[in-house]
Amino acid sequence: MAAIAMPVDDGTTVRPKTPEVERLQAHIRALAKAKNAVILSHIYQRLEVQEVSDFIGDSLNLSREAARTQAGKIVFCGVHFMAETAKLLSPNKLVLLPDMKAGCGMADMITADQARAFRAQYPGLPLVSYVNTYAEVKAESDICCTSTNAADVVRSLPNREILFAPDKYLGGWVQKRLPDRKIICWNGYCPTHFVIQPSMVLARKQQHPDALVLAHPECSPEVLELADHVASTQGIMDYAGKSDAREFIILTEAGLLLRLKALHPHKRFYSIAPCPHCPYMKFVELEKVAACLEGELNPIEIPTDIMIRARRSIERMMAVR
Ligand code: 13P
Ligand code: SF4
Repeated sequence: MAAIAMPVDDGTTVRPKTPEVERLQAHIRALAKAKNAVILSHIYQRLEVQEVSDFIGDSLNLSREAARTQAGKIVFCGVHFMAETAKLLSPNKLVLLPDMKAGCGMADMITADQARAFRAQYPGLPLVSYVNTYAEVKAESDICCTSTNAADVVRSLPNREILFAPDKYLGGWVQKRLPDRKIICWNGYCPTHFVIQPSMVLARKQQHPDALVLAHPECSPEVLELADHVASTQGIMDYAGKSDAREFIILTEAGLLLRLKALHPHKRFYSIAPCPHCPYMKFVELEKVAACLEGELNPIEIPTDIMIRARRSIERMMAVR
């Protein structure tokens, strides 16, 4: 059955809670229990998918949860690089991705060959890879990072000069926080955050002058300049929850906006117009989660040599924070 998308006030979409949706959600929960599976969801997932999850988080918290879960199977409601990271941390578990088309526009911007060439251009410098890369690229890296721990990871290295891939904007944000280091960035970015322009933020700010601007570090430096607070998806959630402010302009993907609205109905959350949607995250739908669990479809598999080297980069990151 196809999803029915209904536009709401700021361009985000939610699926109406029909009896059929409720039946499907109950079916998924029962299947997960029967199969000793845990359902992990990224915050950018559709709201109705988040609702059937055991755990919702940002990339770092999802990695931690994947590493510690006692369940034998993980259904990863997110994108391919996230499911791969879960597999790297839980190699003996069955990790399933509801739709293999759930890739990542940023991860596609660097291949293993390109990572090797980048290193060859700067012999002796360590390569820090954002987790938003495929396992082959992680295997070519010294250490990984997420948007939460990027500055801590770079600070943990003894080198003054460091290579950073693929996100030039996250790398630039870390550079601003660590002026004693020289960060040489790959020319990658997130196509979803790339559409956020300073003029759009200023227009919203004019409409809501009391609103605090909370931004993800995948936004351009010109956009980050306008932010009151820059943080990962979970960091934005925590900040908005604890803040005494009543209004916020959220500069990241629509899923986070929906979740904030659901958690804090007494606060007001605005996006820019149009609200950015990550098309890859939205490949995951309830029907695919059910089919994936039923048939144990789309297991993540990583060749052993890549697994060993990529895992080392992820484990080094986990040891930092
Ligand atoms: P977080 O680690 O902040 O959840 O970011 C993941 C991501 O893909 C953002 O585009
Ligand atoms: Fe990749 Fe950007 Fe989508 Fe995150 S929001 S999964 S970085 S394309």
